[in-house]
Amino acid sequence: MAQQAETFKKLVSHCKEYGFIYQSSEIYDSLAAVYDYGPYGVLLKNNIKEYWWKSMVQMHENIVGIDAAIFMHPTTWKASGHVDAFNDPLIDNKDSKRRYRVDHLIEEHCEKIEAKIQKEVEKAKKKFGDAFDEAQFRATNPRVLERQAEIDKVMYRLARVMEAGDLNGMKAMIDELDIKDPETGSANWTEPRQFNLMFSTQLGNIAGEEGKLYLRPETAQGIFVNFLNVQKTTRQKIPFGIAQIGKAFRNEIVARQFIFRMREFEQMEMQFFVQPGKEMEWYEYWKAKRLKWHLALGHPATKLRFHDHDNLAHYANAAADIEFEFPFGFKELEGIHSRTDFDLTEHQKYSGKKMQYFDPELNENYVPYVVETSIGCDRMFLATMSHALVDEIVPDAEGKDSERTVLKLHPALAPIKCAVLPLLKNKEELTSKARTIFDNLKFAFNTQYDDKDAIGRRYRRQDAIGTPYCVTVDFETLEDNTVTIRERDSLVQERIPIDKIEQIVRERVEMKNLLQ
Ligand code: GAP
Repeated sequence: MAQQAETFKKLVSHCKEYGFIYQSSEIYDSLAAVYDYGPYGVLLKNNIKEYWWKSMVQMHENIVGIDAAIFMHPTTWKASGHVDAFNDPLIDNKDSKRRYRVDHLIEEHCEKIEAKIQKEVEKAKKKFGDAFDEAQFRATNPRVLERQAEIDKVMYRLARVMEAGDLNGMKAMIDELDIKDPETGSANWTEPRQFNLMFSTQLGNIAGEEGKLYLRPETAQGIFVNFLNVQKTTRQKIPFGIAQIGKAFRNEIVARQFIFRMREFEQMEMQFFVQPGKEMEWYEYWKAKRLKWHLALGHPATKLRFHDHDNLAHYANAAADIEFEFPFGFKELEGIHSRTDFDLTEHQKYSGKKMQYFDPELNENYVPYVVETSIGCDRMFLATMSHALVDEIVPDAEGKDSERTVLKLHPALAPIKCAVLPLLKNKEELTSKARTIFDNLKFAFNTQYDDKDAIGRRYRRQDAIGTPYCVTVDFETLEDNTVTIRERDSLVQERIPIDKIEQIVRERVEMKNLLQ
């Protein structure tokens, strides 16, 4: 636990120190749960978005993209159910004056039991050594089974009270499980209340309810209301999808854990419209496809898992999360939801406009069913950074052990693809040659020129921002027009001709490597 907290702290400070993420409005003591992306952060984030967009839109003939406005007609949110049901249950501690989400407190109670199970597993692993079979131990050890049954019982009950919005049931769970304020240990709780997560604002000079607008809490509704526009103008046949990347806003009650839970964030969502009855087939298809997308980045399979929802949102008949092992444990990274025909039917009802598709193969009209894939861009950023940031011991120029911090990002996601470094700063022949190389390469990809400090320190700076290739211009370059190219992870250095740099780097950093 302490180790995990330390790793997370290090990640947060690395993000700030190297220009990836800053707190919003820091000079005014910051705005809670709102963040700004710095010079390297914006490049990494754009690369994540490009990877998603290309793999969803460019690689699928039957998926097209849109960019809908953040503001939508307020009836949109009545129809979608967000005005009435997009709530989180909150509870206040009367002594500490701290506010919590009831479901989070109960989930944390279960995580503590899970930690006890993990302790038993570690103990047995030590005792039995190589002969230890973890799966069998978990399936047969009476103490583990008892604790697991306790977790299952609590989670099942939580899902039921959440689904029913049963505030008394939630309070009963808090009391019966003897849940205390995690910060102070006090059990002096208020009654739980529902809290709507949508931010609202006013349209023009129209006062009161009439002019009330919401900042969209999900990008999906911009897709639903445009379903017929897109279908007609692109002549897509079902099954087909509409994809979108854009900002979403949620007035989260508790927003800790850095960019994991923000009040302003970005989503990458795709709604896939299918024939009714075929949705489960497509649901399984998209689950598998999206998991592959994550694995292609080199994230180990052990860091990713599916979690089927016990507690279904008001619109879904099946839902699963792809969870990632963040420094603070396995948490939701992406959702895959079978949303039925709920949204289109509701918009049909509220707008009075038909949201139907004429299926030429079946010769009939129907409201399509929808399978959605929805991932937070910022959460993906956090997952990517937390997997990539590594401290390791490597040999230095004299072959001695030296510690380095390196960001082992997939080269296609790296903010800077190549750094050009003259061996010495005060040798004009070297710096002008390096500048010429840099001036050519910058047309092809993000390149950096750096001549400050000793070469070893410059390598470390590039390692810390994840630059996959460093090109060094030395005295040999002046004689034969070759440079050394150093690969970030293996530290292997090759001598290559200057006129081959662009091709070699391009082949190794292009997005195509990920998409294939
Ligand atoms: N349209 C469906 C939808 O919005 P969701 O599970 O509420 O579903 C989808 O959100 C994804 O958006 C999540 O898996 C997560 O990656 C991201 N997300 C949701 N709330 C977020 C927040 N407050 N901060 C950052 N990312 C968030």
